[in-house]
Amino acid sequence: MVIIKSPPQIEGIKKSSVLAAQTLEYVASFVKEGVSTAFLDQKAVEFISKNGAIAAPLNYNGFPKSICTSVNNVVCHGIPSEKDVLKAGDIINIDVTTILNGYYGDTSATYPVGEISPHAKQLIKATRDSMYLAIDALKPGKSLNASVGQVIEKYVNQFGFIPVRELGGHGVGIHFHEDPFVFHFTTPSHDTILKPGMIFTVEPMINASKNWQVTLDESDGWTIRTADGSLSAQFEHTILITEIGSEILTQI
Ligand code: MF3
Ligand code: CO
Ligand code: CO
Repeated sequence: MVIIKSPPQIEGIKKSSVLAAQTLEYVASFVKEGVSTAFLDQKAVEFISKNGAIAAPLNYNGFPKSICTSVNNVVCHGIPSEKDVLKAGDIINIDVTTILNGYYGDTSATYPVGEISPHAKQLIKATRDSMYLAIDALKPGKSLNASVGQVIEKYVNQFGFIPVRELGGHGVGIHFHEDPFVFHFTTPSHDTILKPGMIFTVEPMINASKNWQVTLDESDGWTIRTADGSLSAQFEHTILITEIGSEILTQI
């Protein structure tokens, strides 16, 4: 069941979402060659705790760190590590979810490390643009899938890219992951009509491939990679459906 948030809940989720966005911006300022993903995790912990909040990923279903850092062919849920040192040409998605006064905000973005290939640049741009096109299409009374899934799939396909299918966006705010599941590809059979007060993420994971398949790393139980080793990028915002359209809550 999709929760329609009350005005006080919306206020709380807005504050947490702004903090998540500020944390992401802060952590991203440390992205450069030679930095480990564990260092980025530590920077996130410092910033989040200084602001009176906690990081939602830590201990969530046993996740061992406070942010997700997903490099190159890692689609999502990469675990920060001392051994994971950024090098020029990498792309890295940093995913931050905060809990402030009990409310959740969830956002991520993909960043280049030093100079990256034109292909990687094109993937990052197409992924970001597909997310904003979907967000712009959101409106009460409209179908979620017609706004998000169809728009993203059609847009990225033009570049020879494809949305990942096993993972998607989600309702968020009172819990980390709520209904609805937000598909980033066309699924007419699973749909939701948008209503004011709904809050969910739009977070396309786009593979630079014709292959949407992913694999789970059984050794850590978390890291999701592209099955064919291709690059994957992701952007994520937490969105509120308003009376007239939508509002991005994780924007600063
Ligand atoms: N932040 C991710 C999302 O966008 C979820 C991460 S779950 C974790 O939904 F356990 F890996 F942190
Ligand atoms: Co999310
Ligand atoms: Co996230």
